[in-house]
Amino acid sequence: MESPGGNNRMRELAAKLRINQTLPDSELKEVLSETEQEALEVLYEHARQQCQLHYGKKIYARGLIEFTNYCRNNCYYCGIRRGNQNVQRYRLSKEEIFSCVQEGYALGFRTFVLQGGEDLGFSAKDIGEIICRIKQSCPGCAVTLSFGEWEREVYQYWYDCGADRYLLRHETADEEHYRILHPEEMSLLKRKECLAQLKEIGYQTGAGFMVGSPGQTLDTLIADLRYLQQLQPHMAGIGPFIPQKDTPFAKEASGTLVMTLKLLAVVRLMLPKVLLPATTALGTIHPQGREMGILAGANVVMPNLSPVSVRKQYQLYDHKISTGEESAQGRQLLEKRVHSIGYELCMCRGDSKM
Ligand code: 5AD
Repeated sequence: MESPGGNNRMRELAAKLRINQTLPDSELKEVLSETEQEALEVLYEHARQQCQLHYGKKIYARGLIEFTNYCRNNCYYCGIRRGNQNVQRYRLSKEEIFSCVQEGYALGFRTFVLQGGEDLGFSAKDIGEIICRIKQSCPGCAVTLSFGEWEREVYQYWYDCGADRYLLRHETADEEHYRILHPEEMSLLKRKECLAQLKEIGYQTGAGFMVGSPGQTLDTLIADLRYLQQLQPHMAGIGPFIPQKDTPFAKEASGTLVMTLKLLAVVRLMLPKVLLPATTALGTIHPQGREMGILAGANVVMPNLSPVSVRKQYQLYDHKISTGEESAQGRQLLEKRVHSIGYELCMCRGDSKM
């Protein structure tokens, strides 16, 4: 039986969160612990309304190009970690990257996300040339980099070349949890420094974290939310952790759909104008995951523009979807899905309203 009491409590908390854009830790934990579907619908409804207030019923599409799966890092969760001997490594040439962009441009995309592992096979200058060329040949396009941790001077140089945005998930804002997820040579402090620098330089900056990663607790999630409040990123990437068979976390459980949806809704209410992707990982753990994400406050999708021949090799986690409507070529399918829940797909630049 549904308890009307629980429902009323969620009405109170969600409304308070929406008005104040914050809640005390104890109340945030209450929200994140809710399991009753009716109460959760109340939370999602508030998040949806808040999103529509700023972005209407537009869902922004970004074309994702996974341009290299070489990586110098060895994060325990990630399928393209340095130590994984079972990945077939690839690195797209400048020409290949550029032809993905042209294909995307012809399909109507006006924003491109260049994502890759931290690959020293590309010099800063190589990346700069790619940015310049895209900006010159696709007027009005936004270029987003998602390429990890580099020196401030390098970030500045790419910005000067014309890069508009940078995505760098913080992964967790809790020091101990960070140590569970990463080897000794990596540091949360460094990650936060990079994010602060990116923002200072002028990038539209994206942070974010996985849901259900090993060692994550309500307390570490509160730390993530507080960090986002403090950083005020333009985008927050939030998707479920999904184990990858060749990583130390192969036997760990996936993050859940419901916890991911709750966090999307809470982040929408805390940072009303943030861009919030309904991630590929969410679409991987449930066939309607991304639609549910949108109905919980997400407003961005990132279809894949990488060459089909390399998609299987960009396996951050197992069973990653890559050839259906999440691919850029499946734009009609994606459009249909977005329409089916009463939204429209927008191929515009989709700048943040912050
Ligand atoms: N499951 C889900 N997301 C993952 N990422 C890396 N590995 C996994 C995984 N096993 C996410 C990280 C990274 C982004 C590019 O992909 O959060 O920042």
